[in-house]
Amino acid sequence: MYIYFCGFLLFYYLYNKAINIYSFINNSYIYNQSWEDPDIDKKLYDLKDNNNILMITTGGDNVLNYLLNNPISIDTIDFNKHQNYLLQMKMALIKSLSWNDCFDILAYSDYNKFLNNFHIISQYLTPSAKLWWIKNKYIMKNFHYSGYVQYFYYFIKFYIYILGLQTYINKLKNADFNTQQKLYIENKNRLNILANILYYFSNYLCPFIGVPQAQAELSDLHPREWLYRILYKKPFQNNYFYYSYLYGHWTIDCCPDYLKYNNYSIIKNNLHKISIYTDNIENIYKYKNIIYSKYDRVILLDHMDWMNNTEIIKELNSIIPYTTNDCKFCWKSFSFKQPFACLNNISYDVSSVIFPFYQDRVGMYNSIHVASINKLPTIDIPIYNISSFNRIKIFLYTIFIPLLNLFQKNKKKFMDNYYKYQAKYYDAYRLKLLHGKLPLLYSINYKVSDVLILAGGTGDIIEYIKPYINNFNKITIVDISQPMIDEAILKVKKYNLKNVECICQNALDIDTTKQYDLIIISYSLTMIPEWSNVIDITYKILKNKGQLAVADFCFDESQYYITKLLFNFIFYFSYININPLHLVYLQSKFDTKFIRIQKGDFPYILGIKCPYYYGIFIKNIDND
Ligand SMILES: C[S@@+](CC[C@H](N)C(=O)[O-])C[C@H]1O[C@@H](n2cnc3c(N)ncnc32)[C@H](O)[C@@H]1O
Repeated sequence: MYIYFCGFLLFYYLYNKAINIYSFINNSYIYNQSWEDPDIDKKLYDLKDNNNILMITTGGDNVLNYLLNNPISIDTIDFNKHQNYLLQMKMALIKSLSWNDCFDILAYSDYNKFLNNFHIISQYLTPSAKLWWIKNKYIMKNFHYSGYVQYFYYFIKFYIYILGLQTYINKLKNADFNTQQKLYIENKNRLNILANILYYFSNYLCPFIGVPQAQAELSDLHPREWLYRILYKKPFQNNYFYYSYLYGHWTIDCCPDYLKYNNYSIIKNNLHKISIYTDNIENIYKYKNIIYSKYDRVILLDHMDWMNNTEIIKELNSIIPYTTNDCKFCWKSFSFKQPFACLNNISYDVSSVIFPFYQDRVGMYNSIHVASINKLPTIDIPIYNISSFNRIKIFLYTIFIPLLNLFQKNKKKFMDNYYKYQAKYYDAYRLKLLHGKLPLLYSINYKVSDVLILAGGTGDIIEYIKPYINNFNKITIVDISQPMIDEAILKVKKYNLKNVECICQNALDIDTTKQYDLIIISYSLTMIPEWSNVIDITYKILKNKGQLAVADFCFDESQYYITKLLFNFIFYFSYININPLHLVYLQSKFDTKFIRIQKGDFPYILGIKCPYYYGIFIKNIDND
């Protein structure tokens, strides 16, 4: 039994090491076509004559499709060179062949035609692309089942067979929309079984459709909903995204626009507008001549779903100098709401769920966003030095000091004792535990005057928000524990901050005659048994439209009851009580401007992850 278990763990570890999208990109492309519906995108991204577009290549189809909108230029970049080789091949086919021949090769995988013409086609490839295509010509035997995405399809095809869905697939091929919907209803039960199988195996399948774990965690969209969207909500007859996987070819009516006969010569004559780069998009500065022109459309697909706030800010900041002031940044997400804290305070033209409002044919993304981005938050992430010895010492203190104070009923004395030995190393140790703090700080709008950091501990937040402090009128840090507030005072002295006051006080006793624009409560509500009173007090002292920024541990729906009990048992010794009502109460009293729930691990405790939330809640007296 033990050997089986270890074997399983080893297999799982090796599988995860080998099967991830980053290891895939060394060998080939993932996507043989662009998984973005240009009909929706062109409208929402407001593509028009004379755009200068920066975009990500992926399957390359939309680079070609966007040519139909008569842009001045399209710079397309991808960190997987094979995606660019694929676009080069599509361009070379169009450049060198008549519509008939190009269509036969791309739509019907006419391999003989491809081989017969390869010497002409390959003249239009760069040397490295040519070399790769010489080795990989066989791809064109069956173009629609190429790229790593094909394995996802084979998995589905197997279950189509097992579940007896092949007759349905055959009938769907020529069905009008009404018949398509009837067929869906008739086959709904089997389709739902297929969806459940996909759901069950989703962790293993996601890499093959280019979805890393971080992105998969952004929503709990069940494949049932995805199948409903593509097979019931939208006509399948022009859904070239999936048609080609089910039937192995495109048709003259069901193919990307650039391949349609009437568009072919426009595309052919405008290919010179496309420039292709292999790199991270943040390195676009290496290629872009700023004097020549700036981008007015930046199309980022869903790739920010793979990134954290710091990475997103770095990337966008490197692009912004190359964009016009009115440039539209466009992206999609697997999340149903805009999920990135650092993009919480920019101005949006569109930030919406895709279904039911826009209904794209891909059906896999859940939200779409178009925004102007001129400035992003500047947060100073502190770097702390702490030896392993001290780390372990703090870890042991957090466990044993509460046990020694089990019968200490005086809250202040408990907190003083609890933090006495930890305060000095608190910031360094908790950096790897309080995962919501940094994104919380990214999500705040810092155009404020009076700030309260409630139960603010060692005042480490002032280190993060240093770039903004001189713009504030005053910051007040309140904490019940003397050792913690002493650390805050040291920081104020260290940075010579004249407008920061530190007060050792119970949050329940603060001066309620003062008013604030911004109140930050980071990982403290769960330590305050009278948490609802604290929320009431913050509501009272916050100015109308002021921001309450809160981060803390929480539970999420996927957790078992027993897991929740276990967490609260562990946390009990640290005076922490996770209570789902915190969020319910916050959201009932304030307007929620931004909220995100994620999972984070604990230092030195392998395999256990606890959910946490961070959110911006706005006081709105109109709701009173
Ligand atoms: C987990 S720490 C978080 C500190 C800091 N906000 C941070 O993000 O690192 C919880 C803090 O809440 C403080 N605290 C607990 N109960 C309090 C109360 N009733 N009034 C004020 N502070 C309190 C503790 O002293 C401690 O500094």
